[in-house]
Amino acid sequence: MTATPAQLIASIAQLRRTLGEVRGRGQSIALVPTMGALHDGHGRLIENARRESDCVVVSIFVNPIQFDRHDDFDRYPRPLSKDVAFCAARGVPVVFAPPVEEMYPRPQSAFVEVTRVTDHLCGQFRPGHFRGVATVVLKLLNIVQPDRAYFGEKDAQQLAVIRRLVDDLNVPVKIVEVPTVREADGLAISSRNQYLNEEERRVATVLHQALRRAETLIAADTKHAAEIRKEVLPLFEGHPEVRLEYFEIVDPDEMQPVDRITGPVRVAGAIWIGTTRLIDNMLCRPLGSKAGSAPAP
Ligand code: PAJ
Repeated sequence: MTATPAQLIASIAQLRRTLGEVRGRGQSIALVPTMGALHDGHGRLIENARRESDCVVVSIFVNPIQFDRHDDFDRYPRPLSKDVAFCAARGVPVVFAPPVEEMYPRPQSAFVEVTRVTDHLCGQFRPGHFRGVATVVLKLLNIVQPDRAYFGEKDAQQLAVIRRLVDDLNVPVKIVEVPTVREADGLAISSRNQYLNEEERRVATVLHQALRRAETLIAADTKHAAEIRKEVLPLFEGHPEVRLEYFEIVDPDEMQPVDRITGPVRVAGAIWIGTTRLIDNMLCRPLGSKAGSAPAP
């Protein structure tokens, strides 16, 4: 791929000046928010953004207020020059990579709390995480003021939080969902996969296998969530090195656990392998439920 220079911007004032010129030319702006360590999942978001907008801004910011563990924040990879080259190779004109002091020049007092959709799944196990995500995403949306912003289905609860944030607070942006990009064996691509050693990487596929099993059962008209959990959970027990954090079946809008499956559901799981936490999810449809009956993307 040939690289066009991507402008690397660290200051909010400079970014606003640059985007003011873009808007002045009548061009549309897309935002792809990331924490860097860019991979093909991010690449897919960028491709979609490029197709649909004139100017793509990729933000790279490891957001301290969404980490519930200091060690996770400290060890999060930050290969900035590689990331800028990744963006340039994909025709991204603007990379916004502010230092922490630029985003949080003093201790933050205003936070965005999205209730209900954060009650279960990751929200239950990572206190404060979605408050940190919603707050930084609203800041980024206010800084960039994009026409569209792109998020991965890989983090389905995060996406639900952001949709609710934008709807409830009337933020003028279109949120675009991009399907999960996976390795050949089904493992969802994630910046955290690089922490896995060879053996851990091999067993990591169990989460995807569990989701596929649930998908098959739901497609074959298994109606009760308890029945599905009973069939699927033993898959994890076969791997003593894997600790299951949660495996839930929720409604795709509100992210509330369902007992009886009557329409599309989101099946989501989180596992620990050693010190690495992995998440994944799938939208599953029971027999006879039309693809169109899922929530609008
Ligand atoms: P990060 O983990 O870097 O992910 C950035 C975006 O890429 C998210 O929307 C995520 O869902 C998407 N993504 C990650 N892996 C993907 C995959 N395998 N397939 C498709 N999309 C994938 O999510 C965050 O950063 C942060 O919480 C952020 C939204 C930037 C706020 O700090």
